[in-house]
Amino acid sequence: MHVPFPPFKAKVVEPIPVTTRAQREALLVEAGYNLFRLPADRVSIDLLTDSGTGAMSAVQWGRAVQGDEAYACSPSWNRFRDTVRSITGMDEVFPVHQGRAAERILFEAIVKAGDVVPSNTAFDTTRANIERRGASVIDLPHPSAADPRSDAPFKGDIDLGRLEQVLAANRSRVPLVVLTVTNNAGGGQPLHPENAKAARAICQRYGVPVYIDAARFAENAALVIERDPQLHDAQPRTVARAIFDCADGALMSCKKDGIAHIGGFLAVRDQALAAQLGENLIATEGFLTYGGLAGRDLEAIAAGLEEALEPAYLAHRLGQSRHLHQRLTAAGVPVIGPPGGHAVFVDAAGLAPHLAPAQLPGQAVAVELFRIAGVRACEIGTLMFGGGASAREGGKELVRLALPRRVYESAHLDYVADALGRIAKNAAALPAYEIVEGAGPLRHFVAKLRPAAR
Ligand code: F0G
Repeated sequence: MHVPFPPFKAKVVEPIPVTTRAQREALLVEAGYNLFRLPADRVSIDLLTDSGTGAMSAVQWGRAVQGDEAYACSPSWNRFRDTVRSITGMDEVFPVHQGRAAERILFEAIVKAGDVVPSNTAFDTTRANIERRGASVIDLPHPSAADPRSDAPFKGDIDLGRLEQVLAANRSRVPLVVLTVTNNAGGGQPLHPENAKAARAICQRYGVPVYIDAARFAENAALVIERDPQLHDAQPRTVARAIFDCADGALMSCKKDGIAHIGGFLAVRDQALAAQLGENLIATEGFLTYGGLAGRDLEAIAAGLEEALEPAYLAHRLGQSRHLHQRLTAAGVPVIGPPGGHAVFVDAAGLAPHLAPAQLPGQAVAVELFRIAGVRACEIGTLMFGGGASAREGGKELVRLALPRRVYESAHLDYVADALGRIAKNAAALPAYEIVEGAGPLRHFVAKLRPAAR
């Protein structure tokens, strides 16, 4: 199947650096085999993340120039606030410099030591910010997410039966439930509004608020529309709103479906809580009407949030990940199915079954991909999640090929699929990796590694 017609064309381009294998080998040694440490100007195709890496539109750049940089109550803030209100239906809006600041500010207000936070699957910074409060996360992914090969449509759902059990067993120790849409760490899979509604009903019985981690809310809506025949004619905005309507609040990294390079927000309904959050925001991020952002950022995000909801944009975006998914499958690379939104996830445990989780199969694949092709991807497995305190249930060994928004063409994706196909053919030769430096829940950002001796 072809990728749908890109509903945009290039006006400005950047050259792609090309390196030799010997140069890449030296770069890997220099970086301690940690791809976060590679100089970006030596990376040919950068699929490390879809966060803050998108191409802004001419409208976004134009609005950015018009950004009003007043310290307080700038019109750019009004546009940002009104856009967030209209999408989420939540009145109390706080701008922050990125998603994790929203996490910190919310959790400092409502999470205390010994608490337990259930989630469909919390992303690494969400988990870390909860653990920093002395609390822990319980991931409750839907049972269908356990089989990487199944094409179950809503693997991003939360397991409702287990949610009920956890709430019953931990009365007064659960300050909130976090629903991450799409489920990033779980493979970029969507959560259906009906699942959010059912989770909401359970939480209400226990008096527990529900928060949406909305980083990829528009992609989630598009995937729901694609996979639920009853919603084929629905608008992304309506489906997204159905999920927000189930929640007491939302956290968002606007570096994803805000198609911005920086920024985020926290939105809640409760005015008393809002007063508390506002104090923390002013003390640690910035005044209520800019958070950690410039007026130009507020403008770019306000426009980007709307562009991310456009059906033609979303059709092309989902088409890209489907295309890469199909090419990889054809090349014999095991991938998590069905194709999700922002990324394609390679099943490294399936690709390199000779490596146990502690031997970091995902890192082995990601390092090899850079070595042979200059492509940077991201391990999402034992290296990323093995250093935290919370139990990591149903954990997988994945390599994420994240797709920056509106940046790469099909030909770039074909090149990536071809390189991974070559790795798959010779997967038994992939070495184990061991950590020589770096610990804790965020060790994957800073660790140094080495290939283990055979
Ligand atoms: N929630 C989710 C689901 C995320 O994917 C991220 C970031 C955050 C929260 C934190 O937002 O980066 O703006 O502070 N994910 C990026 C990624 C880093 O590569 O997936 P942030």
